[in-house]
Parts: sequence; structure tokens; C-alpha cells
Amino acid sequence: MTIRVQEPSGDYRGYDKTGVISLPPEDLLHRVGPGTPCGEYLRRFWHPVFLGSMLKDLPVRIRRLGEDLVIFRDGSGRLGLVHANCSHRNTSLEYGIIEEKGIRCCYHGWHYDVDGTILETPGEPDASRIKERVAHGAYPVVEVEGLIFAYMGPVEKIPPFPLFDTMSLPGDEMVPAMIPNPCNWQQIAENSIDPYHVVFLHSRVSGVQFQNEFQLMPVFDYFERPNGVFYTSARRVDDKVWIRVHDHLIPNFSQNGGMFTQGDQEELYFARAGLTRWIVPVDDENSLYVAYRHFNEETDPLGLGDKDKVGWNSIDFYGQTGERTYEEAQTGPSDYEAWVGQGAITVHDRENLGHTDQGVSMYRQRLRNAIQRLQAGEEPMQPSDLGLPIPTYAGDTILRIPKSNTDDRALRSEISRKVAEIFRSGDELVGEERRQHIKRRLRDLDDRRGGDRGRTWDQTTQ
Ligand code: FES
Ligand SMILES: [Fe+2]
Repeated sequence: MTIRVQEPSGDYRGYDKTGVISLPPEDLLHRVGPGTPCGEYLRRFWHPVFLGSMLKDLPVRIRRLGEDLVIFRDGSGRLGLVHANCSHRNTSLEYGIIEEKGIRCCYHGWHYDVDGTILETPGEPDASRIKERVAHGAYPVVEVEGLIFAYMGPVEKIPPFPLFDTMSLPGDEMVPAMIPNPCNWQQIAENSIDPYHVVFLHSRVSGVQFQNEFQLMPVFDYFERPNGVFYTSARRVDDKVWIRVHDHLIPNFSQNGGMFTQGDQEELYFARAGLTRWIVPVDDENSLYVAYRHFNEETDPLGLGDKDKVGWNSIDFYGQTGERTYEEAQTGPSDYEAWVGQGAITVHDRENLGHTDQGVSMYRQRLRNAIQRLQAGEEPMQPSDLGLPIPTYAGDTILRIPKSNTDDRALRSEISRKVAEIFRSGDELVGEERRQHIKRRLRDLDDRRGGDRGRTWDQTTQ
């Protein structure tokens, strides 16, 4: 028998690239433990660390920012977040006994208040001063609408709680979710400032995973804020322009529009976020996607959302968890596969960034700058420095603006800039007054078009 071997031909470069595949990650951006530059920077912010609904009558061991911690609710309902290992001889407080006030270690009964104050060391002689000498590590925590937020930085630098405008919208129900991911936090955070992936990952490459209109290539425009950006994705849908807006604030906050907005629906003005999200490091190689899913008629006119699916490791839209089988993930890969698939910690030096990565580059640069400024002694800007409640822009607007004689991409970009200007014109207003002001001005934009058929957009906006 003759064995025939087809000799390969081609420009194979695997061996040449072995130097590239062994490059290390960028420590400045990716290490989150105590004392690391990024870890110190992240510790200047409030982060959602746990679901209130998961905290029953036993303490829970968790890991956040590379620290092992125990979270609990004491007998009087107060929350505690303390270093996991007892200050006596390091037994884990996850085996502790919850007291009316604080928690008691199982081993020798040391009793801690929620702020780490040692209340009692029962085996020590009365004259012992050990409990005055020692303080146990603890962090401030607050529970807001089902998410427990912690501040893990220097206590004298505690910032105001970042109350976003989307956290108190009339008629809106927020349901919290928390999803574990075996990868560095930035891989997930970058996904929401990479709008091109929506066209490819969610539509053209692996089939339509959300709305049909996502396969239409939008015009993207970025509008900078002092500590982040909001960007518009403007799609042409027949005689309408669908402008979808994302918020992105450093270090780890983002919001997007409705999960089930219909791109061909009639006029829609400043419908707000479908998802308010933070990406919180567990450690360098593990992260949590923590979010409020918003449920209201405006962002989901067909009622396609399902609040019963929102919670621990679960959310009601496609591709956000590792729960699908390997085969399902391979045949219908989505966001989870895209960010986890980069590896435990991605290596920026191996990438080749292009035109589509404008947002990602901007984000990384801002993050590097902020980390380096903190290293030089400058405290980071807080979300609350934008005002309280923090004005945000994420959501969907659909305007009836037919194509004109001009280049439609230029037209959509012009509309996006006009929409951004209208959003910003409401920055000094608060709550419903702001929302109605923006809606009214957007409606004017739309009405003018409809009532002015004889003229092109260019003429009416000049
Ligand atoms: S190890 Fe906790 S009280 Fe001894
Ligand atoms: Fe996505």
C-alpha cells in the first residue's frame, strides 16, 4: 500500500510567533490585589459585592479584589464584611456564629462587631488589653435595591455612594443579578465599549441573538465625559433612525439601552437603560458581572424580559453566563465566550488593535492615566463628582427621519451629535424634570422632520 501525504503549502508562522504568545499581561492594568497599582485604584470606589437575597442566616465566604472576606447580616440586621481569617489564630469566620451584634469566631469565641471592633475575647483574663490593641479588618457596606455595595479603600477617603439617575425611575423595577466569570475583570468591562462586536458576534457571525436590526452597521460617535464616555450607535431602519446610547465610566461601570427594544418601533424618546452594570474583580483571574436589570414597558414594549430568570449566575438574555453546554457555546458563542475565551488574563501586547477598537483604546488609556495619577498622589475622580444623582444617558431613541440626499452615514452622525447635545442640555435638571425635558426636545426633533417634508435634514438643522 502506498501512503500518500499531501505536503502542506502556505505561509505558516506559528513558530515565528512563539515569542508573541509567551508575552506577559500588563501588570499595571490587570493586577487587583492589595498594594498593586490597579488594586489601590479600584479600592477608591464603591463596588457591588454580593446579592442581598443570598445572605440568609449564615455567614458567607467571598473573595473580592484578591482578598478573602466573610459577609454576614447580624441578628439586628446590620451588614458586616470582614477579613475572613480571625485576628486570633486565623480560623475562618465563615464558621462563625452570628450574634445579635456582629459575629463570633467558632474557635475561641472572639466576638467582632460589624466594623471589626473586638467586643469580647472570652478566654483572656479580665486584665487583658488585647481587644483594645487589636482591630479586625472590616469594610463599610450598604444595601441598595438588593445589591450589597462595599468600599474597600482607606476609610478617610470614602466617597459618596454613586447613586445613578437610572436607579430611581418611575415605573421601573430593578432586579439584581451576579454572574461569575473565570477571567480578568477588564475583559468584561471592555466588551461594553466595543460596539462593533454587536454587529458581528450577536448578528452576522453567529446568527441573530438579539434584535434583527443589530446586524445593520451603525454610525458610532463617542462623547467624552471627565471620567468616561457615552457613545451613540445610530442605525438606519427604513425611514427611522434608531440611536442606541451606552454609558461607560471608569473604572467599571456601564449601562446599555433596552434588552428588547424593537428597532422598527414607532417613535421612542430617551427610553432608559435595560442594564446597569459593574464588573467587580474577585481576583486577577476571576470576576463578577453585577447588574440591575430594569423592567418597564418603555424598554420592553413586547414584554419579552423575564425577571424570574435574573439572579445568581442567571439573566434573561442570551449568552451572558457559562451555563450552556460546550457544544451550545461553540455553535452559538456570545459575550461570555468572547471575554472568557481571551484567557484568564488577556495579553495586550499580543493584540493588533484596529479602527473598531477606538472605544477600547480610549478606555484603557483613561484607566492607565487614572492609576498613574493615583500613584503620583492624585485622588481619582468619583462618579458622584458628575452630580447626585449621577446623570447618565444610556437608552434608546427612535426618530422618524427619512434618508435625505446626503450621505446617510453623515446624516446619522449629525443626528447623533444633535441628540447628544439635547441630552447634555438636561444636565442641570434632575429626575422627571430632566427626563421630560430631554423627551420633549427629542420629540421636537422628530416632529419637525415629519412636519417639514419638503426640506432636507441639512436645511432644517442649519
Ligand atoms: S481563632 Fe478565632 S477565636 Fe481563636
Ligand atoms: Fe455583547
